[in-house]
Amino acid sequence: MSNPKIMVVNGPNMNLLGTREPEIYGSDTLANIENRLSQCAHDHALDIDFRQSNYEGELVTWVQEACQSFSGIIINPAAYTHTSVAILDALKACKIPVIELHLSNPYARERFRRRSLISPVVTGVICGFGAQGYELALTTMAKLVKG
Ligand code: DQA
Repeated sequence: MSNPKIMVVNGPNMNLLGTREPEIYGSDTLANIENRLSQCAHDHALDIDFRQSNYEGELVTWVQEACQSFSGIIINPAAYTHTSVAILDALKACKIPVIELHLSNPYARERFRRRSLISPVVTGVICGFGAQGYELALTTMAKLVKG
């Protein structure tokens, strides 16, 4: 039997991790995070498809794809967390578990970051634990999809 497939979706500016505001987001690059997450996926007998885009429409298309043919979604929509009705609507149509993830703790930052449009429709939220949050999310996802 094949492993459950989990899509890991990263939004705008996440390609700059490592050099982007390291005091907030840490020094790991997105490639480092993906490498560690691949090992974590192997340990949990999951397959991950790790993606990043700066374009809202592409993120929407990926969420739609995941809802059709994946077992779960881990999504860090980055700045679109706070603005995207389109990503919200795509997630609303989704019947698989969804974990919203943030490296930083948006509640400890500027006021506009305290509102996530997607939080009301996701299974749960992990934030404030830096890059380690990706592994926390995947470990939790393993329990959600395998029971
Ligand atoms: C972020 C938090 C967002 O407010 C911000 O726009 C990001 C990254 C995080 O991972 O902490 O780009 O999603």
